[in-house]
Amino acid sequence: MEDHIVFDAATPVLDLLDQRLLPVEEKRFLCHTVSEACYAIQTMVVRGAPAIGVSAAFACALAVREVQHAPDWRTALDAALTTIAAARPTAVNLSWAVRQMRTLWKEAEQDKAVTPDELFALFSQKASAMQAEDIASCRAIGQASLELVHPNDCILTHCNAGALATAGYGTALGVVRAAWEAGLNISVIADETRPLLQGARLTAWELHRDGIPVTLACDNSCACLMSQNKVSFVVVGADRIAANGDTANKIGTYGVAIMAKHFHIPFYVAAPLSTIDPALADGSLIPIEQRAAEEVTHINGRAIAPDVPAYNFAFDVTPNELITAIITDRGVLRPPYTESIARLFA
Ligand code: MRU
Repeated sequence: MEDHIVFDAATPVLDLLDQRLLPVEEKRFLCHTVSEACYAIQTMVVRGAPAIGVSAAFACALAVREVQHAPDWRTALDAALTTIAAARPTAVNLSWAVRQMRTLWKEAEQDKAVTPDELFALFSQKASAMQAEDIASCRAIGQASLELVHPNDCILTHCNAGALATAGYGTALGVVRAAWEAGLNISVIADETRPLLQGARLTAWELHRDGIPVTLACDNSCACLMSQNKVSFVVVGADRIAANGDTANKIGTYGVAIMAKHFHIPFYVAAPLSTIDPALADGSLIPIEQRAAEEVTHINGRAIAPDVPAYNFAFDVTPNELITAIITDRGVLRPPYTESIARLFA
């Protein structure tokens, strides 16, 4: 699937598959403005670190059109880009994508003043290139992972790090897809991933659609399944990886990693270079999004709990010592990650 993020530069419109409605409905959500694009990112019409990075890049192009007639369009654009970069805090791909656009803008204005039309063309082309690069990165992750996968492996994953969470193919599910395409006869256990059920609604949907065997499991059945030797290895995506390898990913990932360690099962993180944040020394510095309590206390608008407060951290941080390897588009990184990550950025 590569048509869940479509940009039409002529209108312009950012046309997204509304992931909130899957698997029941396949409906599009159209963003004509920066505020609609930010709303789509915040409410998770589009979600997953690389997918929100690419969507943010297209939102930057929308921003140029929106401010083009403002008396001081440069100041207005600067503010709009800041708003886009702050739409969700944890996935570094969002600020990374906006930073790429800012660099492009700065370079374009180095010799002469750029017009909004010129900048719109530059931003649109750059965002499309980022979209294509992300698919290529996911495929490279899949290829790099083949050295770790064995015939008939059963792979447990948490949340959705699939085609929907990227521009296409997926990171963790890129590992799954590459193994499947290589004829390794793998199968997948998808954690349902409370509270928003990305595993049940999205991972199971994607894999089932592609004919890859997938079995859904409650989040709390993980230890039981591992104790029954049903899991060959775990692979998850990432929202941000610090310079020492500590990894922020969907809430619950940390617990899965602890269980994998207990049962001596490899625990892999799959992510492109754009998800690594070498500026942060360790995971304690990663900002963790907290979302509305209603996502925990309600399902489809119906209360499933009395009126009590609820924790709703969207992500947790898995310490590097629980991660067997990080599979990137530039190859497989092994501990100590401070060294292997530094080498990658050198
Ligand atoms: O809150 P979400 O659904 O955006 O969280 C997504 C995840 O945690 C993914 O595992 C991560 O972004 C990697 S996507 C390739």
